[in-house]
Amino acid sequence: MTPTATLLIRRGITGEEPSWSRFEVTYEPGQSVLDGLRRVRIEQDPTLAFRYSCINANACKECMMRVDGKVVYACTARLEPREMQLEPLGNKPLIRDLVTEIAPPDERISNTASRVKG
Ligand code: FES
Repeated sequence: MTPTATLLIRRGITGEEPSWSRFEVTYEPGQSVLDGLRRVRIEQDPTLAFRYSCINANACKECMMRVDGKVVYACTARLEPREMQLEPLGNKPLIRDLVTEIAPPDERISNTASRVKG
C-alpha cells in the first residue's frame, strides 16, 4: 500500500467563517509540505490558495504558514505520512486560504495605487 499524507487545510476569505478541506496525497520521503500543496492544486483542487516563489531556497518567505500550530516555511517543512493541519499565519491579515498579507503596509498595492493621481 502506498503511504499517504493527509493535509487538513483551513480555507476561506477575510470576514467569512473558515471551513476545512482534507486532501490525501501520495507520500514520498524528502518531499516538502509545499510539494504536497502543489500536488493538491494540480490534481485535486485548482482553487486552493497558497503562495510561494523560490520553491526551496528559503529566500522569499512567501510560503510561511502554520503547520500543526507552528509557523514554518512550507518549502522546507517536511511532508509526513500522517495528518498535518495547515493554517494561514495567525498574526497577518487573511487574504484567502493559506495566503496572508505579508508585505509591509507601505508596499501594498492598494496603498501604492491610492497615492497615484490620474
Ligand atoms: S517558497 Fe520561498 S521561502 Fe518558501
